[in-house]
Amino acid sequence: MGPITIEAHRLTKRFGTRMAAEDLSFTARQGEVMGLLGPNGAGKTTTIRLLTTVLKPTSGQFAVAGIGPNRPNEIRRRVGVLPESAGYPQHQTGRDFLRYHARLFGLPRSDAERVAERLLVDVGLSDRATSQISTYSRGMRQRLGIARALVNDPLVVLLDEPTLGLDPAGQRQVLGILRDIAQRRGATVVLSTHTLPEVEQVCTSVLILDKGRVVISGSVAEVTRVVASQMSGSLRVPIELIGKARRALAGVPGLSVEVLDERADLLRISLTAAAHQDHSNSGMNAALGAVLGADIPVLSFEVDGVRLADAFLAITRKDVT
Ligand SMILES: Nc1ncnc2c1ncn2[C@@H]1O[C@H](COP(=O)(O)OP(=O)(O)OP(=O)(O)O)[C@@H](O)[C@H]1O
Ligand SMILES: [Mg+2]
Repeated sequence: MGPITIEAHRLTKRFGTRMAAEDLSFTARQGEVMGLLGPNGAGKTTTIRLLTTVLKPTSGQFAVAGIGPNRPNEIRRRVGVLPESAGYPQHQTGRDFLRYHARLFGLPRSDAERVAERLLVDVGLSDRATSQISTYSRGMRQRLGIARALVNDPLVVLLDEPTLGLDPAGQRQVLGILRDIAQRRGATVVLSTHTLPEVEQVCTSVLILDKGRVVISGSVAEVTRVVASQMSGSLRVPIELIGKARRALAGVPGLSVEVLDERADLLRISLTAAAHQDHSNSGMNAALGAVLGADIPVLSFEVDGVRLADAFLAITRKDVT
């Protein structure tokens, strides 16, 4: 992975008394595809708007390509954005739209034409280059918006729900384009989404937000592993020690423990929702430690495999049981 392109340190945005983003700290690197996840109102759009200098932070620092927010124009020259609700001039053709934006960025006419043609190919719109945007489907408009975000050959591309409203084939197409942006152009791609399978397909790292705060971040493998080690598992002990094991586990905060009827030597252990939000909680390891600490031999210990989708639901679910 290449050098760091985005750095945020305790980045915070408050609207009145509402914390839209609070103490966000993360980094992203060249060639990386970072998924920004979280339920409605988590702060995804706010984060993208902060990084693209549309919003001013209330406090905290960030840099894009090493440039701080006191030089917003220089940041804007290096980023490409697909905003949450992008509008398009209906009576322009796709080609004219891209040429116009390339010119706006400062490219000479011939370069702007070349860039527009290449982008139309890259996003699969060359056969509709001369159609008016008003005749484009939603998927086509979305791809045109992605092409527009690339006219300045940005180092960092930020897309707010690029696959919203697309059918599965359309989603796959857009995700393929995004992967290419990271791999072929070497850009950093940040995309916000609610759709977990697509994160597993293209993202190299994730930043999961809830109520404006980072819940967990890291590579997809790391995040999945951390959550897997913390969610639930089965512990088998000698059947005569099952009661003693339950008492030992009762002393571990944040666990719920049950004995399965048909397997009286098997304890099912899961972390409560509240424990998921406590980063200091060592989860399943603490359970294992408590049982071993009570001198109970552990016959087997298996942690349930989880997909990122399960992890996401477990982390952000609202009930605190
Ligand atoms: N301009 C604004 N003025 C006041 N509050 C705002 C403003 N923009 C965002 N917020 C609030 O900040 C919080 C985060 O909003 P944001 O749009 O960043 O969430 P999101 O994760 O993008 O959600 P969604 O998935 O619905 O797009 C919400 O509580 C929202 O109401
Ligand atoms: Mg949003």
